[in-house]
Amino acid sequence: WPFFAPYVKAINELKKERNAVILAHNYQTPEIYNCVADVVGDSLQLARLAAKAEADVIVQGGVHFMAETSKLLSPEKTVLIPDAAAGCSLAESITGADVRLLRERYPGVPVVAYVNTSAEVKAEVDICCTSSNAVQVVESLGVDRVLFVPDQYLAKYVASQTKVEIIAWKGACEVHERFTGAELRAYRDADPSVSIIAHPECPPDVIAEADFAGSTAHMIDWVKTHRPRRVVMVTECSMADNVATETPGVEFVRPCNLCPHMKRITLPKILDSLIHMREEVVIEPELAARARRSVERMVNLKS
Ligand code: 13P
Ligand code: SF4
Repeated sequence: WPFFAPYVKAINELKKERNAVILAHNYQTPEIYNCVADVVGDSLQLARLAAKAEADVIVQGGVHFMAETSKLLSPEKTVLIPDAAAGCSLAESITGADVRLLRERYPGVPVVAYVNTSAEVKAEVDICCTSSNAVQVVESLGVDRVLFVPDQYLAKYVASQTKVEIIAWKGACEVHERFTGAELRAYRDADPSVSIIAHPECPPDVIAEADFAGSTAHMIDWVKTHRPRRVVMVTECSMADNVATETPGVEFVRPCNLCPHMKRITLPKILDSLIHMREEVVIEPELAARARRSVERMVNLKS
């Protein structure tokens, strides 16, 4: 912590000077989550907060697609990403041209895109979703089948919760696809009273072992509500660190996997970003208008 203190002080002062807010995803490290973030949340909460934020500048504590989503919903604000190389294996698994080919192959079938996609992909689809509203979004379309891109595991999870036929793209999150049902069974065998909660980006054998599956915000709510004695949070490592400070008495059992993209965002890079006002997220206006429609359609669904 002493190493962080000068950065925290400088960031919080410069934030005021620039009239900036820091939106931090639940996977950001505790010093970002607790000491400099103005708001924290899952992808849907951050998108909603970006649209409402009263500030001139948004600094995205998260990965590039999240910063693009903020820019789409707040086009008049300057949106900064402290490291433009903070990508996502899901967003990188599909392009706008891929979506156009899918549409040719499945004429008339609507396309739902997980927000973990580039603005270029969002511009080609009918509506976006996050892990917290994917089933609701799919069912809101009132059709028998949908194309769902790019996360094959979230697609499988959604398919298990709805009668709508889901045609999935083959992308995966490099953090969540590494978990296995076998490793979770080993934890359960060692302590049958342990709770297991998993993110729906995990493969089906992992979800099958879990007591609960949900977005990062829903996982946090679950722990706060149920106050398990011991819990395995099957997701990115910073989640347990961040929730642990708010839930004394709950023991967080590892395993967890680090997201190398989320971990590119650090306090020194946030400070640098605010000093030099970089990297600014810029989206070509015509493409932004089409991508915004897909995100707004999701955000405007009643929850
Ligand atoms: P949520 O916070 O929306 O559950 O997303 C998880 C994730 O992997 C974001 O990159
Ligand atoms: Fe992408 Fe997975 Fe990292 Fe989230 S955790 S940013 S989905 S690679």
